[in-house]
Amino acid sequence: MTGSLEIVKAVSTLGATVTGVELSALTPDEWSRIHAAFLEHAVLVFPGQHLSDGEQTAFGRRFGELNVEAIHFTNEQSDGTLRPADDPLMQLLRGNEGWHTDNSYLPVSAGPSVLSARTVPSKGGETEWADMRAAYDALSPEMRERVQGLKAFHSLIESQARTGQSASGTKEAFAAITAAESAKPGAASGAAAVHDSPRLRPLVKQHPETGRPSLYIGRHAYEIPGLEPAESDALLAELNDFACQPPRVLTHAWEAGDTVLWDNRCVLHRVRPFDPAEARRVVHTRVSGDPATEAEEPAPTA
Ligand code: OGA
Ligand code: MN
Repeated sequence: MTGSLEIVKAVSTLGATVTGVELSALTPDEWSRIHAAFLEHAVLVFPGQHLSDGEQTAFGRRFGELNVEAIHFTNEQSDGTLRPADDPLMQLLRGNEGWHTDNSYLPVSAGPSVLSARTVPSKGGETEWADMRAAYDALSPEMRERVQGLKAFHSLIESQARTGQSASGTKEAFAAITAAESAKPGAASGAAAVHDSPRLRPLVKQHPETGRPSLYIGRHAYEIPGLEPAESDALLAELNDFACQPPRVLTHAWEAGDTVLWDNRCVLHRVRPFDPAEARRVVHTRVSGDPATEAEEPAPTA
């Protein structure tokens, strides 16, 4: 790919498409423009990069320490057949159809994520992102007042239970999907940490680099201390519904070779359904959040 770097903002409140650059061979000037564009737009789409796992991992490392180097999220099995829909791993991947932010159920939530498409179904399987900065800005003054100071517990066991997956199924699938990563030297032992307790996080998050406030919600958030369960469920559902609406949503229909970078500190994302009889393979790299700003909060004392 040749030409000069071009950044074209999307119509929605977040996202831009970046062309004329090779992520595997960035000049210092290109990197600084990409980094600045990332902080401004929160989602960057890079069509036609065709990165190898190693190139993607190296790109991710520019943003910080990795929690995940290169996991393949796929329904393809090593013998070439597709996993049945009731396979626990498929149930875990189907969970990504709900709006979420990565690792909010771990002790330190995620910073940026990088996702590349290798195999795409003929229809469906798009990824969508929703702008939680713009969602916060669009709240009524009353709602902004109400959410300020509130926190929610986040749990993968809980969010998967709401899709019908048992706790043991979720643990088994999480261990299977992270097995290759856990074998790498120095890898975070995420499989163990995922289910030992829910994680408390504020509903309003201040971005550690830009200072902008955003709603920090999504499907893993399930209980607001101090509210009745029904009230807590209703408030979280209302916030999620309101937040994930146009003009705050960006949809990307993948071509094999595309790479997208997003900021888990201020956007939610989800995958759209597709026919399970078709193959889909995406490669995911995840940067750890900063323990100074993305660590869970201590549980309230009752
Ligand atoms: C992810 C994720 C959605 C997708 O990679 O964290 O949620 O489109 N993926 O596969
Ligand atoms: Mn995700």
